[in-house]
Amino acid sequence: MKSIALVGFMGSGKSSVGKKLTDYLNIPFYDTDEVVENQLGMQIKDIFKRHGEDYFREVEEEVLLSMPSDGAVIATGGGIVESPVNRETLKNNFNSIWLQASFPTISKRLEADAKRPLWNNNDQLKHELFRSRQNLYQQSTVKIIKVDELEIDECAQEILCYLNL
Ligand code: S3P
Repeated sequence: MKSIALVGFMGSGKSSVGKKLTDYLNIPFYDTDEVVENQLGMQIKDIFKRHGEDYFREVEEEVLLSMPSDGAVIATGGGIVESPVNRETLKNNFNSIWLQASFPTISKRLEADAKRPLWNNNDQLKHELFRSRQNLYQQSTVKIIKVDELEIDECAQEILCYLNL
């Protein structure tokens, strides 16, 4: 089976749903943010502060290319789709699924968040970022799951059902 890649905006549930899927499937789980942090020995907010977003994106791209194309679940960072190479990779190499959440849902979930540098912004910029990414998620994925009304487990079940697993 092609690896499952979960794609979507910050707070859409990629890591939680990914872990739930690996429980059901008993296969390895990767989180590209965690792999980047482990490789650089630094938290993402510090990578952004010390090295800037562009450097983070370079490492993120290498990390995605290093992910197993079969037999794993991969949760990706919300901005992974900014790179054209990543959009191609996601679309062609993985079963890439867009966890689509509305802006109000994300705002509610990330109300108290302090670890995401690009969420630490004013409302207008956050909204613009959200809007600008929608088309990129669409280009990178083969299936959309609307997550606003779904629990983590229901979301995982929908994915299993879509993939006939
Ligand atoms: C980012 C999302 C984050 C992380 C970094 C940048 C983004 O991942 O990769 O803070 O650009 O949307 P999550 O989507 O897991 O929060």
